[in-house]
Amino acid sequence: MARRVTHPNLCTLVILSLLAIASAKVFFEEHFDDGWESRWVKSDWKADEKLAGEWNYTSGKWNGDANDKGIQTSEDYRFYAISAEYPEFSNKDKTLVFQFSVKHEQKLDCGGGYLKLLSGDVDQKKFGGDTPYSIMFGPDICGYTTKKVHAILTYNDTNHLIKKDVPCETDQLTHVYTFILRPDATYSILIDNVEKQTGSLYKDWDLLPAKKIKDPEAKKPEDWDDTEFIPDPEDKKPEGYDDIPKEIPDADAKKPEDWDDEEDGEWTIPTIPNPEYNGPWEPKQIKNPKYQGKWKAPLIDNPAFKDDPELYVFPKLKYVGIELWQVKSGTLFDNVLITDDAEYAKQLAENTWGKQKDAEKAAFEEFEKKEQEQEKKDDPADSDAEEDEEDADEAKEDANDSDADSKTEAGGDSEAKEEDAHDEL
Ligand SMILES: *[C@@H]1O[C@H](CO)[C@@H](O)[C@H](O)[C@H]1NC(C)=O
Ligand SMILES: *[C@@H]1O[C@H](CO)[C@@H](O)[C@H](O)[C@H]1NC(C)=O
Ligand SMILES: *[C@@H]1O[C@H](CO)[C@@H](O)[C@H](O)[C@H]1NC(C)=O
Repeated sequence: MARRVTHPNLCTLVILSLLAIASAKVFFEEHFDDGWESRWVKSDWKADEKLAGEWNYTSGKWNGDANDKGIQTSEDYRFYAISAEYPEFSNKDKTLVFQFSVKHEQKLDCGGGYLKLLSGDVDQKKFGGDTPYSIMFGPDICGYTTKKVHAILTYNDTNHLIKKDVPCETDQLTHVYTFILRPDATYSILIDNVEKQTGSLYKDWDLLPAKKIKDPEAKKPEDWDDTEFIPDPEDKKPEGYDDIPKEIPDADAKKPEDWDDEEDGEWTIPTIPNPEYNGPWEPKQIKNPKYQGKWKAPLIDNPAFKDDPELYVFPKLKYVGIELWQVKSGTLFDNVLITDDAEYAKQLAENTWGKQKDAEKAAFEEFEKKEQEQEKKDDPADSDAEEDEEDADEAKEDANDSDADSKTEAGGDSEAKEEDAHDEL
């Protein structure tokens, strides 16, 4: 990737920083320059069913540098699978940094934007949803409920999702996603060089059985007092309390003028609830001085737990792949990096996304403005050009309602399809 550095101070800075990270080992770095097609293998997965989507080599409809291209999903309702190989390595005793940029130009309502690291031998022509992977990382959006960064680690042939919620970006601009895994079994997730989540592999994934469990043999002692409140033995019933009647005669009641004692029987004054009456007496409750708390079984070492000091190690990393289902296409990937140096990754992000983001944002705003003007010009009355023909008549009668209906239907449909795709993970 050609980067022009004109400012002399900046030039010195770049050289200095490059010196500082001279020890960085880069296992894979792809900027999708000329020749990228010789490094990436498109899978035949789903091709028989004509459901394999085509990639567009482009910088997108808006960008910070038209010459900086990436690969973008270009067909709706398609599966995408593409991968690249690098010399096999193990991250034992090393930090593993996995980073890439992704831009959802399509206002993504349902689809993934994640990448996978694969190990061992993979038939790249057959790479697909069922191909085992070691790490899956990146944003995933579907409907209103799923807007998160996936971080799935495969351990002992099982995929484990991160237990923490890490929200992803949802706009139509480029963002850089970084996953860092360290030999002390800690990790960090960054978006645009800002740490969004960090912690321990032991705590934030269920890779190993729990270290401690409740002692299954333990029993609550018979004399354990777990009654938190008791009646106050000091509290006494006030004198005369029981003499207060529940109901009293209604002082306002009058015998009806036409009341006939002989025919209607003797008139009795109706009663009403007594405002003085407070129900049967109960002593007030006080905290039990003998309360021992809720009983809990003591924790013991879990016999099923066996620590694995190499919990973080993926010994045969060899491929990076993109494997996605997209309802709406337009996701653009670029600057894929696998290194052992978080500082190198940070500077790469700054030199690519960081340098282009303002220009990209301005280009996007300009694009949006033009689109809106175009829509107004095309059809000032009905700006929704993609309205279904069938709906058109109904739409004239009740434009607002039918529009809302067609949108919900499309959303529901895509969500169901995405769920199918997720099952294949
Ligand atoms: C590729 O992307 C460019 C820029 O957005 C667009 O003009 C072009 O139509 C796209 N090509 C395909 C085949 O989708
Ligand atoms: C690996 O998985 C198998 C089958 O699920 C299980 O029996 C075994 O205990 C697991 N080993 C470890 C170390 O988690
Ligand atoms: C659509 O909604 C707008 C404002 O919400 C209202 O002014 C208009 O009358 C509505 N049109 C129809 C056809 O219901």
